[in-house]
Amino acid sequence: MIIAIDGPAASGKGTVARRLAAHYRLPHLDTGLLYRAVGAARLASGGALDDVAAAARAARALDLESLDEEALKAGPVGEAASRVAAIPQVRRALLELQHGFARQPGGAVLDGRDIGTVIAPEAEVKIFVTASPEARAERRHRELIGRGEAIGYETVLEDIRRRDARDAGRSIAPLVRAADALVIDNTELDKEATFAAALAFVEARRRELGIVAAAAPDGGA
Ligand code: CDP
Repeated sequence: MIIAIDGPAASGKGTVARRLAAHYRLPHLDTGLLYRAVGAARLASGGALDDVAAAARAARALDLESLDEEALKAGPVGEAASRVAAIPQVRRALLELQHGFARQPGGAVLDGRDIGTVIAPEAEVKIFVTASPEARAERRHRELIGRGEAIGYETVLEDIRRRDARDAGRSIAPLVRAADALVIDNTELDKEATFAAALAFVEARRRELGIVAAAAPDGGA
């Protein structure tokens, strides 16, 4: 079973993906980390973020095993990631790795922007997690402050709006919900309620697809 989780920045898609992966004992890939790693490599080099050849080289040189998640989650890396993610050559360089991960025997959970539309359109389960920009900025602000970054709410909100516009407006693999995805708007939901909605949908899909037997109407075996 492939579970594809997409959504905008700080929507909580990563938490849903991680929890579903643990629940179903499936491997999980946070594809945002791949773009963050390319963005971080370009920031570290001091070169221009829109240098297509250099960004594509950084994407091809990526090693899944050596991603430093802690460092990649830092604020400025998100912006750099969204800039390099708009470069077609970068997306192409990261395609095979993601395809391979999605199609491993037994299935997988992937989260990102284009999992249900480009990476794994055949996924049995597609969920699009979203929330208002203000709610997402509040969460991301809390997260960054918790990590010791000195940053104001307004700056975070601005970053989120700019990234939303860039991610949704790019010509290649834009952030868009798949037609057959369940949309969970969690502006008013906490993490537990968001996970419960996602889990209920996965279970319904598993029954629909005959992966698990539907419960007998009388509740019996
Ligand atoms: O959690 P947050 O949305 O801040 O970041 P992320 O999911 O780690 O993604 C960082 C950036 O990578 C996004 O703004 C997208 O531009 C890009 N990305 C993408 O284009 N496609 C994906 N499948 C995942 C991330």
